[in-house]
Amino acid sequence: MSVIATVTEKNTASLEGKAQMDKSSAFDMQSHADMKAYETIGKPFVKNSKMSARNVNVFYGEKQAILDVSLDIGRNEVLAMIGPSGCGKSTFLRTLNRMNDIIPICEVRGEITLDGEDIYESDQDTVMLRARVGMVFQKPNPFPKSIYENVAYGPRIHGLAHSTAEMDEIVESSLRRAGLFEEVKDQLDKPGTGLSGGQQQRLCIARAIAVSPEVILMDEPCSALDPIATARIEELIDELKENYTIAIVTHSMQQAARVSQRTAYFHLGKLIEVGDTKEIFTMPRHQLTENYITGRFG
Ligand SMILES: Nc1ncnc2c1ncn2[C@@H]1O[C@H](COP(=O)(O)OP(=O)(O)O)[C@@H](O)[C@H]1O
Ligand SMILES: [Mg+2]
Repeated sequence: MSVIATVTEKNTASLEGKAQMDKSSAFDMQSHADMKAYETIGKPFVKNSKMSARNVNVFYGEKQAILDVSLDIGRNEVLAMIGPSGCGKSTFLRTLNRMNDIIPICEVRGEITLDGEDIYESDQDTVMLRARVGMVFQKPNPFPKSIYENVAYGPRIHGLAHSTAEMDEIVESSLRRAGLFEEVKDQLDKPGTGLSGGQQQRLCIARAIAVSPEVILMDEPCSALDPIATARIEELIDELKENYTIAIVTHSMQQAARVSQRTAYFHLGKLIEVGDTKEIFTMPRHQLTENYITGRFG
């Protein structure tokens, strides 16, 4: 919260002097041709990267949704992706575990690696990839099965448990790591869809971590939740980063400031600026980033 307050004060004071740059940089971003020439500001690359995107372009038919994005996600870091609606956050997130493959008109170009290996190689097993790079969606989407089965499903198809006791152990530990076990331990055979929204989202997180992923992608995981459930998920993200690499799309700048170490700002399919979260929110370098975080559009 204090980070956001600082930004607002700073900007009110400094806006006048920047009026000229305001107009020109906003204008430069109007056409795709100008945007093509644009280089991301800040620190898109890190030393110890878990995933790396290089010159990624994504098309839906004729329409280009992502323009030449290069970005690393560091090991055990939480990377927040922010930007106005329709700027390509979900599209980019889905390139990281090839979820775009299921959209027939979608074409991904460029290179994306996980631990240095190209995930778009033709022999890549996408079921295996999505176990290593799990995903949690905007709307909690438990399967119409019991709480237990929601978590056991992935480990079962990947053959991770060799006995019922082993499966019980995986289900319990996943629910514990998702901060849900105590609340549901007496109703594991009840439908997952009967839980509250916040519990359902933690169930989906338990389902994602049950297959021991290395990376967890979250697309606005709290947008359907109340503030208390949101706070619970944010605490959880902080705990999960000890063991996982996390990329989270959020429309809440407070959330980005609270949970992430690095923040990436997208605008019209371009990665405008990326850097340490504190710096992005207190000293944004690009006018578009500043406009967005001070609420002047979005
Ligand atoms: N399945 C799809 N088919 C066609 N166009 C799409 C599809 N999904 C997204 N788009 C388009 O791609 C652009 C980026 O969308 P999206 O990645 O959903 O943005 P964000 O998550 O930042 O709101 C938008 O113009 C959107 O209309
Ligand atoms: Mg989206």
